[in-house]
Amino acid sequence: MDDYCPANLSARKHRSHRVVGPNTIGRGTMERKTLCKQTDLPPGQMRQFQIGRRGILLVRDEAGEFHAVAAECAHQGARLVHGQVERMWVGEHVGEAHQDEQRTVVICPWHNYEFDVATGESPCDPERLRIQTYRVEVNEGHVDIWV
Ligand code: FES
Repeated sequence: MDDYCPANLSARKHRSHRVVGPNTIGRGTMERKTLCKQTDLPPGQMRQFQIGRRGILLVRDEAGEFHAVAAECAHQGARLVHGQVERMWVGEHVGEAHQDEQRTVVICPWHNYEFDVATGESPCDPERLRIQTYRVEVNEGHVDIWV
């Protein structure tokens, strides 16, 4: 098992479940992996995990919801864990901006591109610039993702 988890978890930490269902047709088998305890990541923070060769960035928004995205920036590959998490700034007019409480972004440390943690899209070019997102579930106080 290649899971990396810095938290001191019980035997649950490396559990995985193989599932084959309609949502996996053509993409192989998906597995549920437990990353950490729900309480290990406070709201407004993120942490990187490694599952096999995949870098996963787990983000908890200010509302307490968890999101999992690829750990590398889609622009030039910076490690997003060294960036920032914040609510997205939006505005209708120049000079008028406020933070959208419904949208959270991770900001790349190299060139400040933003990625919406719910969709993986960059607001500056959502059609071409995006990072992978992963399904997240909280089960009995543990944060699981599907990869
Ligand atoms: S590497 Fe992330 S914005 Fe350039």
